[in-house]
Amino acid sequence: MSERATRADAALPRGLRVLHVAAEIFPLVKTGGLADVAAALPPALAAQGADVRLLLPGLPPVLDAVHDARPLLPLGPIFGAARGSLVLARMPGSALPVYVLDLPYLYRRGGSPYADERGHEWPDNLARFAALGWAAAHLAFGELDVAWTPQVVHAHDWHAAMVCAYLAAHPPTPVASVFTIHNLAYQGVFPHEDAPLLGLPSRFMTPQGLEYHGQICFMKAGLKFADRVSTVSPGYAREIATPEYGAGLDGVIRGRGRDVVGILNGIDTAVWDPARDPALAAPYDRDALPGKAIVKAALQRECGLDEDAGAPLLAVVSRLTGQKGLDLVLAALPALLRDGAQLVVQGSGDAALEQAFVEAARTSPRSVSVYPGYDEARAHRVIAGADVMLVPSRFEPCGLTQLYALRYGTVPLVRRVGGLADTVDEGRTGFLFDEPSALALQAAFERALQAWRDPARWQALMRAGMEQELSWEGPAREYLALYAQACGAREEAPRRMPGG
Ligand code: ADP
Ligand code: GLC
Repeated sequence: MSERATRADAALPRGLRVLHVAAEIFPLVKTGGLADVAAALPPALAAQGADVRLLLPGLPPVLDAVHDARPLLPLGPIFGAARGSLVLARMPGSALPVYVLDLPYLYRRGGSPYADERGHEWPDNLARFAALGWAAAHLAFGELDVAWTPQVVHAHDWHAAMVCAYLAAHPPTPVASVFTIHNLAYQGVFPHEDAPLLGLPSRFMTPQGLEYHGQICFMKAGLKFADRVSTVSPGYAREIATPEYGAGLDGVIRGRGRDVVGILNGIDTAVWDPARDPALAAPYDRDALPGKAIVKAALQRECGLDEDAGAPLLAVVSRLTGQKGLDLVLAALPALLRDGAQLVVQGSGDAALEQAFVEAARTSPRSVSVYPGYDEARAHRVIAGADVMLVPSRFEPCGLTQLYALRYGTVPLVRRVGGLADTVDEGRTGFLFDEPSALALQAAFERALQAWRDPARWQALMRAGMEQELSWEGPAREYLALYAQACGAREEAPRRMPGG
């Protein structure tokens, strides 16, 4: 280990008490990569000596899955909920302590954390996620659990961001805050008329605070008031300071200057391990690749495709939204099929996109297959069984599927943007394209195809990806260093308050 690394390690705060606040967590509640991060980063921090706890909303799958639950104290009335309680329990799997905010009126319902079964956002999301931030802040003030208070609160995405405003509204507290942007496109914007429900001083409802073009923006609470702001790749950290990728908040981001950093996501290398994946027909690893051919044949059978080992099998596992650039795959599809490729798509979301893929599968059932739903084990089979993982995103804060693909010897073909550009290396571990166009995607596929036709070259690509360091160990170390900075900032300066 270098002398520099040793010194940096020595400065890392062991036993630092950190509270992670998130709206979703794998495997209990998951709509995207945030859930994977919320599940894997806290144990990685604990493995490096931090004293980590979680705070989650009391959604039914969370209440059902946690162990050793005991009510800490009754709550209410709070944010429209007549009563509820704060529960202390343990996470299944990691056994980390977890506070569950059990407010039945706000959280005990079906659908997703954000929307009902038909995809309509819950009309009381302001109250639901303000309550989460409020509970995190009051844990930090020592008012909800006398036995444990955090030194750092780490809030994920707009759902948890309000903790930063509630901390700022309080007389100076020593508790530091870190806010992580997983996706700047989702901001938690609500009508100004609802501001009184937040219980914050009116000075917070100005452009220096949460006000955003006449509305209230929860994301701004994190961007303005956290001691440090991070996002999930260095590339996206640079991009969001520009109007093109800043989703209207680039000015606010630029205003925080060097307080905004990019820390690349890791992956849970136990959950995503081709040598020990219960979802696969055969195990494999970089020293024993034949298993992958068995997994590919099984996937072709499962999807009703021609069982042809020589056809490059392309895969998409994704939310079907504008972000993901899947219209480019549709536009390039005739050319890809002419080149002998097969395509497996697993995803749901945008109905028109879903329909277009279903139609393509109907036209070419032996080469295109679509599964318009969400299935975790099936995602493992698709990512493992494919030869090429397509991630043509228009923007991508980090992206996890290309990382899973690398680990599984599935070569990523991605757009050179955000975290995709930071994790895939042209010609060595994968293929990249710049222009968001079908032609640029096709050109990258032609380069992939040349490599595919040379088995030794293809195996070298697979192995290079499988050797890439993707665990959470390094990123967790970077977060600990960021926490140390946030604590330092807290000691030096009172929290910026609008007008304060
Ligand atoms: P995002 O969070 O923007 O959706 P990521 O690549 O960070 O993108 O994470 C997506 C996560 O969701 C991955 O774990 C991926 O495997 C999973 N996923 C996406 N769509 C599906 C699906 N239809 N079925 C199963 N898992 C899915
Ligand atoms: C978001 C982003 C994705 C990222 C994930 C986890 O959902 O869209 O790029 O990988 O969060 O940080």
